[in-house]
Amino acid sequence: MSMEAGFELGFASLSNEVTDRSLAVEGSLPDWLDGALVRNGPATFEAGGERVEHWFDGLAMLHRFAFDGREDAVRYTNRSLRSETYRRAMETGEISGQFATGGGYLRRIRQLLFGDPTDNCNVHVARVDGSLVAMTEVPRYVACDPETLESRGEFAFADALTGHVNCAHVLPDPHRGETIGLLTTFGRPSEYMLYRLPDGSRSRERIGSVTIEDPAYLHSFALTERFVVLTEHPFVTTPASFLLPGRDSFVDHYDWRPERGTRFHVLDRETGERVATAVTDPWFVFHHVNAFEAGAGPNGDGDADELVVDLVAYPNADVVDGLYLTEAADWFESGRDGHLRRFRVPLGGGPVASEPLYDGCELPRVAPGDRTKAYRYVYAQGAATRDGNHVAKVDVTTGESHRWEESGLFVEEPVFVRAPDAERPSDEGVVLVTALNTNERRTDLLVLDGETLDERARAPLPHAVPFGFHGRYLEE
Ligand SMILES: [Fe+2]
Repeated sequence: MSMEAGFELGFASLSNEVTDRSLAVEGSLPDWLDGALVRNGPATFEAGGERVEHWFDGLAMLHRFAFDGREDAVRYTNRSLRSETYRRAMETGEISGQFATGGGYLRRIRQLLFGDPTDNCNVHVARVDGSLVAMTEVPRYVACDPETLESRGEFAFADALTGHVNCAHVLPDPHRGETIGLLTTFGRPSEYMLYRLPDGSRSRERIGSVTIEDPAYLHSFALTERFVVLTEHPFVTTPASFLLPGRDSFVDHYDWRPERGTRFHVLDRETGERVATAVTDPWFVFHHVNAFEAGAGPNGDGDADELVVDLVAYPNADVVDGLYLTEAADWFESGRDGHLRRFRVPLGGGPVASEPLYDGCELPRVAPGDRTKAYRYVYAQGAATRDGNHVAKVDVTTGESHRWEESGLFVEEPVFVRAPDAERPSDEGVVLVTALNTNERRTDLLVLDGETLDERARAPLPHAVPFGFHGRYLEE
């Protein structure tokens, strides 16, 4: 793969690490911005001269951008996650046990089913009881220092909940003081199990579960005030297949079975009881945007009679194949297939309605305070061309949208931070977004105005960061 063309820099390894580096800021930062943006993503794509096969399999690196209320400075730290997978890769030259990279399937099966799966936690970060915890799609977690990002070894929850697949998108609900999460356990039958983690606790509590013969690959879910929504697309596995030869990696064990359709399972957050299941056309989803309760109830009693669920839907699971590094050109195609859609899931039976909101986007974000509530604004990464991509802002109440873009720049996940004195669902605030600047062969941190998307500030990094996944803005 040529390293000359530009966007390929987004799939090139980064090993350079800096500590608490002051980045010069062009423009000015709002004086109320005093937290830190922490991001996670793959950054090392080779070991022992071999390249991993899938974007999701690069070794994790964390990045931290700390704001301290100064208008002209951001402090930047980045660290490769010193996971066991990382240490082994550096020692043996082999990156093992990953999402889609082949080799040694028996070991991986045993890792997956009998413990010791990968701890290459490159997907997301969460704050758990004062710790910064890096997460991936199996239930192993690495604790990191929230300021220096130094790895502190394996993170252990203070409970006995287990599973084989971990949903890295845990959902903090600031209105309820808890985080909701999801674990999938393979078995006969298999089970999607929901848990709650009260703020300040390390002990997860089981809410309830859905049992299923052939479990789907669930990357995220949605939350309303009273309900959890599990969206079960037909990208499913037969757990016994993990014991058979012939398939080489985790994701090879999943098949697209469109005849099953896509199902919404609605569970009561308090009792864990399943209150509705609704089936619709088959489509694939990585990321939910937000969800909330709507309608006045069939008897006008004020209870919700439907759930509004916004997510980025794909026509099928081809996007997973499009993210293989050998098919990086397909990356552009796959991004265009992500459609922001609004689904209306009836609680009392009946068809699921849906409407399009924005075509060609991924990595959608809303203000954390908008979660579970009727809301207005989504920020997302717009689909790329070879010349760059854009930040999209969508008003989900009107369908209006606009964008920020600059030739040669590839933005990552845009994180909206609402101004402290602004009230929901205001867009007063800033959008923090890193962007690979292929013109300058480095990454820039951009601070965009939440209302207009006008650029307020830009801080160039001392290196180019490969395309990452998710981050959180952590209040100080
Ligand atoms: Fe994700």
